[in-house]
Amino acid sequence: MSVILHPTAPEIARAAALLAAGELVAFGTETVYGLGADARNGEAVAKIYVAKGRPSFNPLICHYASARAAFADVVPNAMAEKLAAAFWPGPLTMVLPRAAACAVSRLAGAGLETLAVRVPAHRVALQLLAAFGGPVAAPSANRSGQISPTTPSHVLAGLGGKIAAVIDCGPCAVGLESTVLDLSGPAPVLLRPGGVSVEALEAVIGPVGTGAPITQGEAMASPGMLASHYAPGLPVRLDAGAVAADEALLAFGPPLPGAKLVFQLSERKNLTEAAARLFEALHELDATAPALGLTRIAVMPIPSTGLGRAINDRLSRAAAPRG
Ligand code: TXA
Ligand code: MG
Repeated sequence: MSVILHPTAPEIARAAALLAAGELVAFGTETVYGLGADARNGEAVAKIYVAKGRPSFNPLICHYASARAAFADVVPNAMAEKLAAAFWPGPLTMVLPRAAACAVSRLAGAGLETLAVRVPAHRVALQLLAAFGGPVAAPSANRSGQISPTTPSHVLAGLGGKIAAVIDCGPCAVGLESTVLDLSGPAPVLLRPGGVSVEALEAVIGPVGTGAPITQGEAMASPGMLASHYAPGLPVRLDAGAVAADEALLAFGPPLPGAKLVFQLSERKNLTEAAARLFEALHELDATAPALGLTRIAVMPIPSTGLGRAINDRLSRAAAPRG
């Protein structure tokens, strides 16, 4: 059952409490409806991918009540400060390096060292974010492959029964997703056109690049190499039935014997827990294995059902031969 909440203070407080309890709450923004979860709670974020039926982990946008709150989780530069002053709250998402103290789960950022942040221009969304008091990860509130929802009934048509609640915020004013701008490199790069035009951005920060176009063929030939996807440094071997002397182990269930270094994804073989820990696991093994003389990661079999599909998608990209 998905509850429809009204945009009143007590019902917004109820929505914030659901988020704090690790539940999914859809809410309106000025662009499209978002499917929100506590960004610091990996298992809550994993539920987003389950509800959307996404076969892979894409990095999600984190929503904040203010630029100050957003800039506590990332490392802003002068351009980001100028853009925030000009366009926030509003339909602009900035990709910036994660701050050292960033509490956003690795799953929300799909393992990347950058994080996409935005402050939405919508009274109810801002009230929800303020009442919740933390970052809310929210992709568009539609099933994977369907169009982005701009009314509560669109949301319920796709996600009814799969989420705890939707806040009725009426129709969205912009109806087009936010502009995504990567500010983590030497020059700004447009990753997705959206509610703020390139001309408007350029009036504030000067020329904006549009990035190297990626053709379908290239994208499919080297999916794990896309800049927007994290790949671990160490090679990965899937479906391991035994651990070699030079391998660290990524365990799922009781660990195979003999590993010098083990990271447990889920002792009780729970796919939501495993998804929540996946990127943390890869980062941790990358950081600690070499000092122990380990040069590869062996992964125990993970079933390709539900979230297991997305986990195996990410791991098989990591296992693919490197060019
Ligand atoms: O208008 C919007 O942006 C809506 C509302 C709910 O805020 N949200 C939205 O989220 O459209 P989603 O998940 O459907 O799109 C997020 C986009 C994707 O294209 C994703 O690849 C990109 O942002 N993105 C997120 N984090 C990124 C990162 N660290 N680096 C590069 N791209 C990133
Ligand atoms: Mg979307």
